Amino acid sequence: MSESRSRIFVSRSLSGIAASDPLLRLREISEVDVWSGSKPPEPEELAARTASAHGLLCLLTDRIDEDFLQSCPQLRVISSMSVGLDHIDLEAAHRRGIRVGHTPGVLTETTADLSFGLMLAAARRIPEADRFVRDGQWTFARRWDPDLLLGRDVHGAVLGVIGLGAIGRAVAARARGFGMQVLAWNRSGRSHPGVERVALDELLRRSDFVSIHVARTPETLGLLGPDEIAACKPGAVLVNAARGGIVDEDALAKALASGHLFAAALDVFAEEPLDPMSPLRRAPNLVLAPHIGSASMATRLRMAALAVENLIAGLQGDPMPHQAR
Ligand code: DGY
Repeated sequence: MSESRSRIFVSRSLSGIAASDPLLRLREISEVDVWSGSKPPEPEELAARTASAHGLLCLLTDRIDEDFLQSCPQLRVISSMSVGLDHIDLEAAHRRGIRVGHTPGVLTETTADLSFGLMLAAARRIPEADRFVRDGQWTFARRWDPDLLLGRDVHGAVLGVIGLGAIGRAVAARARGFGMQVLAWNRSGRSHPGVERVALDELLRRSDFVSIHVARTPETLGLLGPDEIAACKPGAVLVNAARGGIVDEDALAKALASGHLFAAALDVFAEEPLDPMSPLRRAPNLVLAPHIGSASMATRLRMAALAVENLIAGLQGDPMPHQAR
């Protein structure tokens, strides 16, 4: 395929993440068509716009399944501006010889910052404190109350990290700075200095804080179901900034309502955006965020740059900086 004639579809405008054009290098060598809608394209729109493209730069909101691939016979490269690839049927892409790139590494520290921030926010009830002040509840009579908004100490507590990939290890490093004892469980059996590897049930039983850092796969869906949540240490705090569907949301809402868990914080949900009827919206002591783990200006720019690099390498038949296996 001649580079100059390759056609690319980009499923979302990236103009909001930087003053300069993150797609500049791509435009130099290809014809670039960018979706300009304020919402992500619907599946039919995505398929129609990619139908004659050789390359696709997509986001985690785009479902890339067998039907989609069927309708894009020219497609040779998919580059997702995400580390997670659960929105792409990798097997179907590989079967068609389509190379798939993603953006690990560049978002590790930023996502670990958010996980740790959520842990602090939930433990010390920071969003609740903010609402308390804004809503005018901070009165002269309660200007300093011995039992006002009491939380849990993070420093010196036991943190259980589920999944010891790059982000899990980055969270563990932050935890050690807070004098926490770090336990970890992962499927690969990987160990890490300063982290005690334990079985999942032991981690849940011993941890004051549990932070999830596994990808969503058929094996991790429902990993923390009703039994696992019941097995958590009473008064624990649960944080998930990895993927929705790993924690059973009904069981979590019940555990928060009963007080079995002291608090929780979620950046990701089984269905995004969170359903208006979800019991999580009424759950006490729950900090909610709209999937912003990697949302810092510098990191989003690095993700876009890496997605472009992957795409260009794929189109040129070179090794991609990060190709999904
Ligand atoms: C990813 O890249 O998979 C993250 O969820 C984005 O925040």
